[in-house]
Amino acid sequence: MKLSVIGAGYVGLTTAACLAQIGHDVFCSESDLEKLAKLQNGEMPIFEPYLELVIKLTQRANRLRFGSTEDAIAWGEALFICVGTPPLPNGDADLSAIEGVARAIAKRASGYRLVIEKSTVPVQTGAQLRRHLSVHRANGLKYDVASNPEFLREGTSVEDFLHPDRVVIGVDSPRAAEILRGIYAPIIQQQFTCPLHSQCPKHKSPLFLVTDTNSAELIKHASNSFLAMKISFINMVANLCEAVGADVNKVAQGMGMDPRIGSAFLNPGIGFGGFCFPKDVQAFIRIAEKSGCDFTLLKEVERINQHRVEHFVEKLRKELWILRGKRIGVWGLAFKPDTDDIRFAPALAIIRQLLSEGANIQAYDPQAMDKCRSELPEITYCSDLYRAAEGAEAILLLTEWSEFLTADWGRLSTLVERPVVLDGRNALRREEVIANGFQYLGIGGVSEGTLSASSMVEV
Ligand code: UGA
Repeated sequence: MKLSVIGAGYVGLTTAACLAQIGHDVFCSESDLEKLAKLQNGEMPIFEPYLELVIKLTQRANRLRFGSTEDAIAWGEALFICVGTPPLPNGDADLSAIEGVARAIAKRASGYRLVIEKSTVPVQTGAQLRRHLSVHRANGLKYDVASNPEFLREGTSVEDFLHPDRVVIGVDSPRAAEILRGIYAPIIQQQFTCPLHSQCPKHKSPLFLVTDTNSAELIKHASNSFLAMKISFINMVANLCEAVGADVNKVAQGMGMDPRIGSAFLNPGIGFGGFCFPKDVQAFIRIAEKSGCDFTLLKEVERINQHRVEHFVEKLRKELWILRGKRIGVWGLAFKPDTDDIRFAPALAIIRQLLSEGANIQAYDPQAMDKCRSELPEITYCSDLYRAAEGAEAILLLTEWSEFLTADWGRLSTLVERPVVLDGRNALRREEVIANGFQYLGIGGVSEGTLSASSMVEV
């Protein structure tokens, strides 16, 4: 099928490449001309595992092309809107880019188009889109509007697209449902050439859920908000563990053994970041407010998360006393591993706080340093994790990239000024760190210089 994807950010680019990979003829547009030129020259504007490979494969097969919004509108029978919906100062999602695309579609398209919202939007955006298309349409445009929320995680977005747990579509006409069913048939049946696995692991067929547009929109915001709530919950449990002398890793392990709770998203740390959770929680609070529902629960989720930065810096202050003039080694800048995305990254908030107190920061991240340089020009960027540790009075693990987890602690002990490690993600092998003479400070009571009894008792 001829499909268009409007907007080549993380979501749009993955969507376009993967739809082409499963056999569709895809046109992907980007309004940022610099970014568009990069894509047309075969350069990647972002780091996302396997995405470059899929783009190359599908371009070679002549199933993916990049160009203008106008050409995208002319190309596809179905148009996926993947433009940004950043937060406004009051927490609302800024829908002006969506409105702009809707207006362009209304003015330029003729015949029939299925307009699909894939960007995360507040509930009832589909209804607004429908009204907008009706008011501004020219050329006898006939259309349906559908919601098809994405559940892609940065760092694993290609895998998530091709092997999802679920595909949700929100439609208000049988025609729209039929088109979307056709688009996703290769994914639902798991029948396509997989660029990731020579033999795909036995994935169960994804669930396909058809709802009305409002419900599909809500599923997305409710899912992200729920996951954020899980993270804030375990972070509060971590605080309690610190206060009473328990080990949050063990508590989370025990909780996660209950299938009703599940072990995912119970990793305590310096809080959630990225461009999705912080803005989606905010937007969901605003949607509830506007609809007359007081979602105070989510305000707490947000407040707990914001406090993680200060809580972590306070741990460092307790250890080093005065931060002014101290050299601190920072491992990790991205909001999570396997991405170069630094938007709302807790690492950056922590660094800003340390800088404001006069610390000297030397940082290393495998992918995110280029994006960080303009945001934080006052820190030293190092070529590897060992350089970042040289002469440091503390090493802070802020993003759990796999290369940090396999660091040579014997070598590190000869490089640092003072052997102190603050593990902001409870990700390091604590025993190994301690065995090499380091003082280990984790999150939620996982901090002793010697192993606690609780950590030695295996369940
Ligand atoms: C999230 C959702 O997981 C996706 O399903 C959704 O499609 C996406 O937002 C989106 O709305 O587009 P993503 O932002 O890529 O994906 O990142 P996550 O892997 O969900 O992590 C979010 C943050 O939570 C990270 O900062 C991570 O470090 C933190 N986190 C995650 C924790 O602190 N603890 C955990 O147990 C899990």
